[in-house]
Amino acid sequence: MTAGLARTRSSLHFLRTVQYRRCYSTRPPSVSLLGKEYPTDKTTNITSAIADKVGRNLYMNPSHPLGILHALVSSHFRDFNSMVGLPPVVTPAQNFDDLSFPPDHPGRAVTDSYYLNDSAMLRTHTSAHEVETFARGERRWLLSADVYRRDEIDASHYPVFHQMEGARVFASGAEGRAELEADNARLAGELARARIAIEDVPHVSPTNPAQAAHDPVLAELVAQNLKLSLNSLMLSLFGDHAGGEAGEPLRVRWIEAFFPFTTPSYEVEVFFRGKWLEILGCGVVQQQTLDRANVPNSISWAFGLGLERIAMILFSIPDIRLFWSQDPRFLSQFTAGQISTFKPYSKYPACYKDVSFWLSEAGLHDNDFCDLVRDTAGDLVQDVVLIDDFTHPKTKRSSKCYRINYCSMDRSLSNEEANEVHAQVIASLKDKFGVEIR
Ligand code: DAH
Repeated sequence: MTAGLARTRSSLHFLRTVQYRRCYSTRPPSVSLLGKEYPTDKTTNITSAIADKVGRNLYMNPSHPLGILHALVSSHFRDFNSMVGLPPVVTPAQNFDDLSFPPDHPGRAVTDSYYLNDSAMLRTHTSAHEVETFARGERRWLLSADVYRRDEIDASHYPVFHQMEGARVFASGAEGRAELEADNARLAGELARARIAIEDVPHVSPTNPAQAAHDPVLAELVAQNLKLSLNSLMLSLFGDHAGGEAGEPLRVRWIEAFFPFTTPSYEVEVFFRGKWLEILGCGVVQQQTLDRANVPNSISWAFGLGLERIAMILFSIPDIRLFWSQDPRFLSQFTAGQISTFKPYSKYPACYKDVSFWLSEAGLHDNDFCDLVRDTAGDLVQDVVLIDDFTHPKTKRSSKCYRINYCSMDRSLSNEEANEVHAQVIASLKDKFGVEIR
């Protein structure tokens, strides 16, 4: 989730760019989204399956699991200004440059993000709105939104998901220090009385340094305030749900992390049903971000969390596609303000179909394959697994075999229907990527 943008660059990057040129050689002159026309260019890669999801705003429905969770986080941070509804189209400058992402960061690649054209993209994270929000003078804020990433297909990844960003700004002088000391003492007192076991890391370390521009004492106080505030959020969200049978305390673990727009940076994990689960990323905001927003004499922390990830845990929702279901058997199970356990209403058999093929010279990235499948089969696809990847020793030709699991969330899918959809996937694979079916 939060580490998504930290993925390492694949050596296939060059090939992928070439494929895009081929794949969209017949692109329309413009694409329209939310009533606006965007002239296309070689970076345009938004698909209709993705465009159809824009504007659904699931987290704004108070009795949808994402809406319930959104309300819980907002009420925890009750004196923060909670913003919703910002349009998803941003510039690459907002999404990356404003947050000090290096020019060659893999998140910028057309294989990882959705572009309308080279100057407009779907935000990949809510952090894209940090500079404008700080610039408006907000000192304690939350911002919730849909975010978009090209990614693998499985039960916990979907190309559209929702994040909540939060930040708190302090004055960098004596006034900020006094506010921090008081707030830290209050939060530490509350946490000391709660059933929570925290595995911490040092606030600052040689591998997770404070910023040169910061007074080291103040930077530590801000990092500490960040940790206390988020430990307290974890207790609000998971306290009643994650303790073991014998009423064991909630276990929260802090890990050093890296984000281009914070230092020191951390990830937070919660121990739930025998596993450590990554919940959010956070850190002390890079001073450049506040400088870009023209916020002088201030220091801030920020965090970003993925709503689906947490909702899947809290409501026991087994598949991320369910959030998009309009089936009353799903929607009617939830009530505003309440965490309840999802009861699966039906189980349909999985229907596996393989496709194996020789690649054309342009190659084929897994994410390109997944988007093609998503665009053709929509939500009938449950998961896609690469089961064979092989290069012939003599001819040097490469082949791949993917196994697609077709399975509807809402109804029984016949083998004939799965065959028909699979045939469409194969046809568009040949057409768009010039592969030779084996
Ligand atoms: N934007 C990050 C992501 O999506 C998450 C994140 C990390 C947000 C650190 C923050 C932060 O505000 O300080 O991977």
